[in-house]
Parts: sequence; structure tokens; C-alpha cells
Amino acid sequence: MIYYDYRFMEVAEPIIEHEQYQQMKKIKHHDESVYDHSIKVAFYAYQLAYNHNLDWESTIRGALLHDFFLYKFEKRFSIGIVSDSIKHAIEHPKIAFENASKYFDLNEKEENIIKGHMFPFGLPKSKEAWIVSYVDKYIASFEYASNFIKMIGRKPAYSTK
Ligand SMILES: [Fe+2]
Ligand SMILES: [Fe+2]
Repeated sequence: MIYYDYRFMEVAEPIIEHEQYQQMKKIKHHDESVYDHSIKVAFYAYQLAYNHNLDWESTIRGALLHDFFLYKFEKRFSIGIVSDSIKHAIEHPKIAFENASKYFDLNEKEENIIKGHMFPFGLPKSKEAWIVSYVDKYIASFEYASNFIKMIGRKPAYSTK
């Protein structure tokens, strides 16, 4: 159980509570929902940014919205899987930004955190954007591993369930 501190919640709450943001609970991503994944990325990225005296507020907002693409990505087990995955990797940051800018006022740094998070398909232009890109990949690798272990029917060694 992660304890989200008041500083994080003060910035995150207006976004998390938004009706459109809540839709992400229904979209599965790696091993959980896009909603859970995005909040986790935002919280760990915030801690790194805060501890390094960086712009932690933009880090939270950009990270929360980095995967705000609002569609269910289905990998098809066919010849198209590679091209589908690459297409999704390239396009979803742009779609996430288009969606995010409809509902929230974003600064330039937040825009680049979203658009650049899929490095090398995008380019992070600030330390905050690099942090989000790194934390996203780090967390996604655990989520993929957990999903894979479930698929082959074994519990991960660190599972408490
Ligand atoms: Fe993403
Ligand atoms: Fe992500």
C-alpha cells in the first residue's frame, strides 16, 4: 500500500477526481488499469523530483496525464503485433496530450513530459521529463513481469496475495 502524502494529493486531486480521468480505471494496461499505473508513475516521479529540488508540481501533473489516451489498446497475436505496438508507442503520447489539453491547462514542461515520455519515440527536454520517462519504464517492467507470471500461472515471489 502506497501512502500518498498531502503535497502530492493537493496537486494530483483535481486531475484524479476529474470525470474523464476516472474513465482510465476501466482501461487495462500492462498488469493493472491505466489509472493505477499513472498514479504510481506520478508518485514515484514526484518523489525523485522533490528530492532533487526540481519542479515537482509539473512532474506530478505531466506524469498523471502521460498515458491519458483513453482507448483500450489490444495487441493482436498476428503479423500485425509489432507494427501495432510501435504505432501505439509513437501515437499515444500525442493523443494523451490532445485529451489532456481539452480538460486541463498545461504548461510547456507538462506538455513535453507527456509527449516525450516514450523516449526514444519522443524526446524529454527537461530533467522532470527524463524522470517521468525513466520511472514509467521502470514501473512498466515490473507490471509486465507480474502480468507474465500470472499468464504462466505462477505467483511472483514478492506477492502477498
Ligand atoms: Fe505511455
Ligand atoms: Fe505509462
